[in-house]
Amino acid sequence: MTSTPSAAASGQFRIGGDLTVNRLGFGAMRITGPGVWGEPEDRDEALRVLKRLPELEVDFIDTADSYGPFVSEDLIAEALAPYPKSVIATKGGLTRSGPGIWEQVGRPEYLRQCVLMSLRRLKVERIDLWQLHRIDAKVPRDEQFGVIADMQKEGLIRHAGLSQVSVEEIQAAQKHFKVATVQNLYNLTNRASEDVLDHCEAHGIGFIPWFPLASGDLAKPGGVLDTIVHKTGATPSQIALAWVLKRSPVMLPIPGTSKVGHLEDNVAAAGITLSDEDFAALDRAAKQG
Ligand SMILES: NC(=O)c1ccc[n+]([C@@H]2O[C@H](COP(=O)([O-])OP(=O)(O)OC[C@H]3O[C@@H](n4cnc5c(N)ncnc54)[C@H](OP(=O)(O)O)[C@@H]3O)[C@@H](O)[C@H]2O)c1
Repeated sequence: MTSTPSAAASGQFRIGGDLTVNRLGFGAMRITGPGVWGEPEDRDEALRVLKRLPELEVDFIDTADSYGPFVSEDLIAEALAPYPKSVIATKGGLTRSGPGIWEQVGRPEYLRQCVLMSLRRLKVERIDLWQLHRIDAKVPRDEQFGVIADMQKEGLIRHAGLSQVSVEEIQAAQKHFKVATVQNLYNLTNRASEDVLDHCEAHGIGFIPWFPLASGDLAKPGGVLDTIVHKTGATPSQIALAWVLKRSPVMLPIPGTSKVGHLEDNVAAAGITLSDEDFAALDRAAKQG
């Protein structure tokens, strides 16, 4: 008999120093239609995925108003509100005008509308973690950071974070509000944000790697990942997740899926502990690749 996997096995992190979550979370971008546009192909399965999360002790859920748009937040509320066991992180600052099209809009009045509408869709009075999806280069960044600080003071958002930023941008935002999390592209084979991760670890900022399941060419037959897969009986995606979890105690991966079976496979990665030797071998192979 196989036991139910639990995200608690990944360890815990306190977002902003006071909101404790299991480190392995869930990304809710994939419960939408193709191009992150419209309803998911299988709406009932998407709801089953969301309802399965508390049973697997996945208590950190990442979404954005632009996923769908609105579809992901609406489904989360339908499945899980009033969230007795979940911390919901959402994002704003991107508009949508079709599948695969994302445009930055960072005007303060628009960011305020994003927060107010996410509050309404998620059916909460305060957003646990609100993240600026992108800093809009067309708007002075201090205006964007300023309205986030205002909304935090007004109690609309509990903690604030950033997405796809540099260390310099984190430091600029810190002059306005405490940066609780940073969400950047990061996985075993894409390490462009290594300096940002190190900065987050040094300052107790949660680092949320998006696209965390990727393992690229490392899974080729006979390669180091393939060898570890055969030794452990895990899948390449599970080993890629176990690797990011071991990389740093501030790492909060949010693998996304539209299928219950894939969700269970991903959560099972929380229980995989890589040896120091395997961790280092994967690191070397990824850097060489
Ligand atoms: N801040 C940003 O700019 C940004 C950008 C992109 C994403 N994100 C966030 O990061 C989250 C994760 O990113 P992501 O969705 O791009 O990457 P990901 O979680 O690494 O990969 C998701 C993809 O892998 C598939 N998958 C998931 N589990 C699987 C399994 N066990 N076996 C086989 N296939 C599996 C999914 O398809 P199935 O549905 O078929 O399982 C989906 O196509 C998103 O949900 C979103 O919350 C943020």
